[in-house]
Order: sequence, then C-alpha cells, then structure tokens
Amino acid sequence: MATVSNGIRHLPDYLDRPAQERLVEAIRTIVTGAPLYVPEMPGTGKPMSVRMTNCGSLGWVTDKDRGYRYQSFHPATGKPWPAMPQELIDLWERLADYPKPPEACLVNFYSDDARMGLHQDRDETDLAAPVLSISLGNSCLFRVGGLNRKDPTRSFRLASGDIVVLGGERRLAFHGVDRIYPKTSTLLKNGGRINLTLRRVNV
Ligand code: SIN
Ligand code: FE2
Repeated sequence: MATVSNGIRHLPDYLDRPAQERLVEAIRTIVTGAPLYVPEMPGTGKPMSVRMTNCGSLGWVTDKDRGYRYQSFHPATGKPWPAMPQELIDLWERLADYPKPPEACLVNFYSDDARMGLHQDRDETDLAAPVLSISLGNSCLFRVGGLNRKDPTRSFRLASGDIVVLGGERRLAFHGVDRIYPKTSTLLKNGGRINLTLRRVNV
C-alpha cells in the first residue's frame, strides 16, 4: 500500500482480474436497470463528458436546474437505484475504517476521450467517512491537490483494479481525472474506464 499523502491511500492492483470481472458483470446488471445518463453542470447545463449512474439507497446526480445532490431514484426512469452489490459493501468494510455502511455508489463511465475537472466531493453530510474509489478498465491520469483549489497538485496513474481512499484530513482534497490512456486494459471490450466511488452520505 502506498500513502500518497496524509489521508490519501493508493492501493495499486488491489483487485485481481477475477474480482474485476465480477464487478464489471455486476455493473452491467446495474446499468440494465439504471441506464447511464449524461449529467449536466449546475447553472450552465453544460453536459459532462462522463456518463453516470448509481447503486445503493442514494445516488449522486446533477442537472442544470437543481445542481449537485443525492436522491433515492434515477433522474430519467424515476425508479429507485439498484441495490449495492455485496462485493462493494465488503470492500468498504475492509478498507473504509468506518462503522456505518456506504449509502451510495456513483458509477462513472469514461469513454477514452472523457475527463473530469478538479473538484471536491462535498455533497455528503458525513465528512468523517472516506470516499473509496475503484478503477476498472483503461488507466487514467488522476490528479489530487489540497483543500484549496489553488493548492499544488500531484498526478499519478490509476490502473484497473487500483483503489484510492480519500479520507481523514484529505477527505475534501480537490481531485480530478486529466485523461484516459486508451488500450491500457483488456477488461472492457469497448475500451474506456469505469470508476466506482462508495460514499457514506448521512451521519
Ligand atoms: C470522481 O471524482 O467522482 C471520479 C474519480 C475517478 O474517476 O477516479
Ligand atoms: Fe470526486
């Protein structure tokens, strides 16, 4: 295990290939019931390049009019989010060092030309719980900074099976994905990258 800085842990290659394949299968089932949709930036309505869905009792969503929030149902279908797979709950129990289970798993799908700008995960009430992030498919260049947008940042690659835990004093660290490296994994038949983030929302 590598500690990138206080409160940020990078666990390279944490999930072996069979575990990665099981997760991809679970995500396929989730996406069948809760299709990926295009999120919009609050205010401008500008579409994000990443497509999203969720599983768990809550899901993180954003659109032009109502902005960033958690809600219990899919914004397009109106149906409750699919249940969180047991493997994800188990991973949280092993790595989060937090007594309550995760409520939300945000599923981000990056095509090879998608990216995610520098941001904080701060829509949760419970900031004592970490955010646990799982990478599947093509590698990406992940950037992480400090608690202020202008703080210096560091970049490192996340490969399929890697886990990152953002917690402690870096729970609110700015982070983002600068680019995806095409053809760096054979896990996803059509390329791209999936990122799963497990979150505890309510205290
Ligand atoms: C996120 O911050 O929601 C995604 C991070 C990632 O894709 O690794
Ligand atoms: Fe984030």
